[in-house]
Order: sequence, then C-alpha cells, then structure tokens
Amino acid sequence: MLKGKTAIVTGGSRGIGAAICKMFAQNGANIALLYAGNTQKAEETKAELLQMGVKAEAYQCNVADAQQVATICKQIVKDFGGVDILVNNAGITKDKLVPMMKVPDFDSVVDTNLKGAFYMIKQVYPVMMKQRSGKIINISSVSGLMGNPGQANYSASKAGLVGLTKSIAKELAGRGVCCNAIAPGFIATDMTENLSENNQLKDFIPMKKFGTPQDVAKLALFLASDQSDYITGEVIRIDGGLAM
Ligand code: NAI
Repeated sequence: MLKGKTAIVTGGSRGIGAAICKMFAQNGANIALLYAGNTQKAEETKAELLQMGVKAEAYQCNVADAQQVATICKQIVKDFGGVDILVNNAGITKDKLVPMMKVPDFDSVVDTNLKGAFYMIKQVYPVMMKQRSGKIINISSVSGLMGNPGQANYSASKAGLVGLTKSIAKELAGRGVCCNAIAPGFIATDMTENLSENNQLKDFIPMKKFGTPQDVAKLALFLASDQSDYITGEVIRIDGGLAM
C-alpha cells in the first residue's frame, strides 16, 4: 500500500508511534523515526523495521526545538530523497488541576504537542507542495474534543491540533496534499499504563476496553494511503465509542 513512500513518524520509538512505523514498514514504506531520548529503544524499533526489508533510520530530535527540527528534517530529505508522509505523534502529558498546574507545565505540553507539530509541518510543507502530493496525519486526542479535568494543557494542545489540521488541509488541498487528524480515546501504552487496570474507567467506554496501538496504526495506514485520497481536514475518533 505504501511501497517506495517515505514516512516521518515523530515519537516513533515506542507506543502508538512504533506501531505506526511497523504498520507502514509492513506495507512497504521507508521510515525516518524521530525520538526524544531513549536511543536504545529507538535502535530496537529501527532494527525491527530493517528486518521488514525497508530503509529505516532513527534520528534523535526534540520536536519542541524548531532549530533541531529544521536541521533533522533537511537531513531526512537528503538521506531518503524526499518525504511523502508525516505523522505528528510525539506527545506528552503533565496532568494537574489548574491551581496546581505551573505555567512551565502548560508551556512544555503545548510546545511538544502543538508547536512541535507546526515545526514539523513547516519543514515538509514546501517539499510536499512542490511534489504535489503528500499525507500529513496529526495525532490529537478525544481530550482535545471533549476537554478533561486535569488536562487543561493537554486538551488545549490537542484541540489546537484540530485547528492546525484544518488550516493546513485548506492551504494544501489544491496541491494534492491531505492533512487529517486522529483522535484516540484510551489506548494501552506507557502513557496510560497506570490507568489500564481501572475498570471504572472502562465502564465509561461503550466497548468496555482500551484500544491497542495497532488499532490506531491501521487507521493511520488508511490515512497515509491512496485509499483516503479524497479525505482532508477530517478528525477521526478511534475510541470504542467514548466521545460519541
Ligand atoms: P508514549 O508516551 O508511549 O509515546 C510518546 C512518544 O513521544 C515517545 O516515543 C516519546 O519519546 C515521544 N516524545 C515525547 N516528547 C518528545 C519530544 N519533545 N520530541 C520528540 N519526541 C517526543 O505515548 P503514546 O500513548 O504512544 O502516545 C502517542 C501519541 O498519541 C501522543 O501524541 C499522545 O498524546 C496520543 N494519544 C495517546 C492516547 C493513549 O491513550 N495512549 C490517547 C490519545 C492520544
């Protein structure tokens, strides 16, 4: 489905990002994965991708640093000869009720989750515009659609991604580039590790279970492939019915 395409996936070393890298590689894409700090984990994921017979490289890059993003993206385009797919997946939480939430807690979550996506898009935009094709996928959250107590910073960043998605979709629609967002509910990863045994929480989910990173990866594959060529500016929930 993605044979010969090049995909950049931020936060690609573990969790949902790693599942997306693997799903794309299984479908023939070459992968540039960006990771924050855990070189060992990134190298392990890269090794798995290489075993699938595609080109794969891991780049250490803090997406909240515009200069680093510019340098690494230029390097990736040089190393891979272009870029066809960008998945803005890197994300963090710093949950606290507002009275306890320090200003730096708000800033760092917005810097990573929202501004990081903008910095990445800024780099791939001219490349995709010139080649008149491309797929940009932003990983938002149902928290950005519904709000969530304790997540003022996170919800704001994820709601921001929805606006960013729609503006980019409109800017690039005439250039053959699609930009969509995925809004997951509870997915079993490191981020939700301390919640996964919480049965009360599962009662709120119509499907009564957490999703898997592979569930999200299947949707990302659809949005990255030509199966979704007439879809842009869309936000697709993947949440077992949580935000219905
Ligand atoms: P995770 O914590 O397992 O992985 C997050 C990834 O982002 C890691 O690879 C980490 O290295 C990377 N990252 C964090 N800060 C970074 C930075 N400054 N620069 C570069 N990379 C950075 O989390 P998970 O669950 O896999 O989440 C992936 C995305 O999905 C996030 O954007 C998250 O907000 C979103 N999401 C997750 C949900 C869940 O239930 N797990 C629900 C809704 C959205």
